[in-house]
Amino acid sequence: MAREIYGRRRILVTGGAGFLGSHLIDRLIARGDEVVCVDNLFTGDKRNVEHLHGHKQFEFIRHDVSFPLYVEVDEIYNLACPASPIHYQHDPVQTTKTSVLGAINMLGLAKRLRCKIFQASTSEVYGDPAVHPQREDYWGNVNPIGFRSCYDEGKRCAETLFFDYRRQHGLPVKVARIFNTYGPRMHPADGRVVSNFIIQALKNEPITMYGDGSQTRSFCYYEDLVDGFLRLMDTEDDFTGPVNIGNPNEFTIRELAEHVIELTGSKSTIMSRPLPQDDPMQRQPNIDLAREKLGWEPRVQLKEGLTKTIEYFDGLLREKL
Ligand SMILES: NC(=O)c1ccc[n+]([C@@H]2O[C@H](COP(=O)([O-])OP(=O)(O)OC[C@H]3O[C@@H](n4cnc5c(N)ncnc54)[C@H](O)[C@@H]3O)[C@@H](O)[C@H]2O)c1
Repeated sequence: MAREIYGRRRILVTGGAGFLGSHLIDRLIARGDEVVCVDNLFTGDKRNVEHLHGHKQFEFIRHDVSFPLYVEVDEIYNLACPASPIHYQHDPVQTTKTSVLGAINMLGLAKRLRCKIFQASTSEVYGDPAVHPQREDYWGNVNPIGFRSCYDEGKRCAETLFFDYRRQHGLPVKVARIFNTYGPRMHPADGRVVSNFIIQALKNEPITMYGDGSQTRSFCYYEDLVDGFLRLMDTEDDFTGPVNIGNPNEFTIRELAEHVIELTGSKSTIMSRPLPQDDPMQRQPNIDLAREKLGWEPRVQLKEGLTKTIEYFDGLLREKL
């Protein structure tokens, strides 16, 4: 194994130039691992890993995971996939290819290397949930032919592949179902609610809220989430997940808008727009399994995380002045 040759673990992170991938890489490097970051830079940004260029533990490969990849590593984290509706609906066929062919290619690599592999799945596998909060044994309520289906069904199929590789080839797999996460390095133009609201507030522009803002979301700060990833990867091989990783504190979208206005000291007003198709009304994780198996629960409160995220976007906007 690569571990024996290099004396330290060598870890592949796909989607490593993205928001979550780049933070995960920072944690892996800090604990002494070598990281191979694979990204096609569709939504990722080289600046997210710029500080690691020239670092002896870091290597960047520009590659599309829907094509096979041959590298020698000890563990794989598969995060490559556009995550926001604007991005994944831009080229829906490619989104499905990234999820499904990306999973097949990374699982094939893991099978050849006999290594552990992590999948960044999503709460979107629950669709517009008929049960609330969502537990991992809920099978979901997903529209297979809508605008969000390329992402939702792509991720569902990827989960199927992970569990079939487990059953058929005995591969150690770890599947995390990620709920809304936010923080520095989110793409400023991804149309996600946290980044949208913050940028609009910083520019003193009206905050565009879909519907009447009574739909709820739970928001997890990236530091908590990455901690959950690492704990999941360190569990015994017989624990596969899927496991929900997210913050169960639920807020309405209107409350989020109000917090952002308060923390930025903005003059923005709130403006209502029609709800997009298939937009779920409620989304909240049940994290009992993560508590029990990973000893994990989120620690960062919404206002604390928002304050750090606002600082980041404020810096970005100032750079552009
Ligand atoms: N952020 C969230 O709230 C959230 C919620 C649920 C699931 N997830 C999942 O977590 C993962 C990371 O999300 P993120 O928020 O960091 O998004 P992101 O868009 O910042 O990161 C995704 C990365 O994948 C790369 N990528 C896309 N298609 C690729 C391809 N074909 N080949 C190689 N690289 C490719 C992008 O360039 C980008 O760097 C995704 O799989 C996403 O579905 C995120």
